[in-house]
Amino acid sequence: MLDILRKRRSIRRYKDQEISPEVVEQLKEAVLRSPSSRGINPWRFVFVTDRALLEKLSRAKREGSGFLKGARLGVVVYADQTASDTWIEDCSIASIILQLCGQSLGLGSCWIQIRKRMHESGRPSEDYVKELLALPEKMKVESIIAFGYPDEDREPISLEELEYPKIQMKE
Ligand SMILES: Cc1cc2nc3c(=O)[nH]c(=O)nc-3n(C[C@H](O)[C@H](O)[C@H](O)COP(=O)(O)O)c2cc1C
Repeated sequence: MLDILRKRRSIRRYKDQEISPEVVEQLKEAVLRSPSSRGINPWRFVFVTDRALLEKLSRAKREGSGFLKGARLGVVVYADQTASDTWIEDCSIASIILQLCGQSLGLGSCWIQIRKRMHESGRPSEDYVKELLALPEKMKVESIIAFGYPDEDREPISLEELEYPKIQMKE
C-alpha cells in the first residue's frame, strides 16, 4: 500500500486502450468493500464506459473536468442523502478506494469534484449530472473518478516534499 501511495499522482491524460471487463469487475468489488458509517452504505455508483456519455459528463464543470472525454471509464459516485448524514465522508472514502485500487491495477485516475461546483450555464454541476443520468431527486452527487491507462509521466512526490510539520506528536 505504501508503494502505491508513493507513486500515486492524479493522471489526466490516457492511452487509447480499453479497460478490460475483468479489471472493471475488480474496481466494482473494491468500491463495494469501502467502509461507511454504521455500515449503511448510502453510496451508489454509475460505471460509464460509453464514450458519448463520457464526453457529455466531461462538460459538467467550466474547468477541471474536460479530460474525462479522453478517459476509458468514469465512475460517478453519488449517494442517498436521506439514508445517512455521513454520505459525504462515505462517498469520499469510496472515491479514494477506487483511485488506489485503480492504481494497483495499472490505471491512472483523477477525481473530478461535482458537489458544490457549477456548470457553465450557471446551474450546479450536480443537476447537470443528475439529469444526464436520470438520478432520483434525493440523490446527491459527490464526484466522478476518471480512469484510463496513463499517457503522462508524473514525478512521484519525494519524501522531502512531504509536509511533516503538519504532523504533531504527543508522546
Ligand atoms: C476532493 C478532491 C477534488 C478534486 N477535484 C478535482 C477536479 O475537479 N479536477 C481535477 O482535475 N483534479 C481534481 N482533484 C485532483 C487534485 O487536484 C490533486 O489530487 C492535487 O492537485 C494533488 O495532486 P496529485 O493527486 O497528483 O498528488 C481533486 C482531488 C480531490 C482530493
